[in-house]
Amino acid sequence: MALKSVIVYFSQTGNTEKVARAIATGIKSTNNSCTLTTLKEVILKKLRDYDLIGIGTPVFYFQEPCNVRNFIARLSFLKDKLSFVFCTHGGQDANTLARMAKGLKERGLLVLGGLSTRGYDSFQPYVEFDYSKGHPDEKDLKEAEEFGQKMVKNYGLVKEKNQLDILPEFKFRFSLLHLASLWLTEKRVNRHLPKIEVDRENCTKCGKCAEICPSEAIELNPYPVRKGDCIRCYYCEKVCPQGAIVVNWGPTKRLLGYFRICDRAIKAPFKIFRAKGD
Ligand SMILES: Cc1cc2nc3c(=O)[nH]c(=O)nc-3n(C[C@H](O)[C@H](O)[C@H](O)COP(=O)(O)O)c2cc1C
Ligand code: SF4
Ligand code: SF4
Repeated sequence: MALKSVIVYFSQTGNTEKVARAIATGIKSTNNSCTLTTLKEVILKKLRDYDLIGIGTPVFYFQEPCNVRNFIARLSFLKDKLSFVFCTHGGQDANTLARMAKGLKERGLLVLGGLSTRGYDSFQPYVEFDYSKGHPDEKDLKEAEEFGQKMVKNYGLVKEKNQLDILPEFKFRFSLLHLASLWLTEKRVNRHLPKIEVDRENCTKCGKCAEICPSEAIELNPYPVRKGDCIRCYYCEKVCPQGAIVVNWGPTKRLLGYFRICDRAIKAPFKIFRAKGD
């Protein structure tokens, strides 16, 4: 009987969605079914009907955002189901896949694999870094398709041949950078990154910001007000048709300006080296 799979993804700017679609194409190319659903639209109890469950997310501040983490925390009812994880990131996914896999394993799911793909980073202060421009590209999407095929193969090995030794370990990495990423908790992000303000003169109370907020942190009353924890994704700033969400990026951009100078200084010798080799 054909394998029934589902991919649940969160995607703000479309990168993770592209990868999700490519993985689904890979799964379908093996004559199995794959349904795609967004995190917002997923009906939890329906997940029981699937043999294989994939979960995809962008990386926010070196980890999966809280809406994805909270979703994983509710999956204990899927104990013993087979799953896989994937993420897209601008340049540093840190331990995102390992964290997601740990969350799933703690709820009793088996994790068949993980895929991390670059995705263009439109986070305001980063846009001038060019690590991720053009991603996910054709090559990335081909890899995602192959990953989908591999998940079907791994499913067969685990389910039919009971080969549990093919399950990847998802080891946590502990370099200096990874340790720094542990420091950046959501509380600290909240404390140190610029606040979101609403300019009531320009706001038309259209509700778009509340509709798209991944942590349901905005309520219309009748103007947008904060009702929960803001994860500082700044997507409301991007989508507001009136430019009424105001963020003071000044200090953050200045700080990142120093990083950019360091980044260029570090890369310069490599560029010269490459130019000589051309
Ligand atoms: C608020 C925010 C924080 C981010 N933090 C990171 C990060 O820590 N590391 C990284 O590599 N990329 C980071 N990114 C880049 C996104 O992970 C990347 O652009 C991703 O592909 C976006 O996926 P989407 O288009 O599906 O929303 C961040 C983006 C945003 C908006
Ligand atoms: S999206 Fe902009 S205009 Fe619409 S309610 Fe939010 S702040 Fe106001
Ligand atoms: S930045 Fe805006 S969209 Fe993102 S979590 Fe905060 S209030 Fe919601």
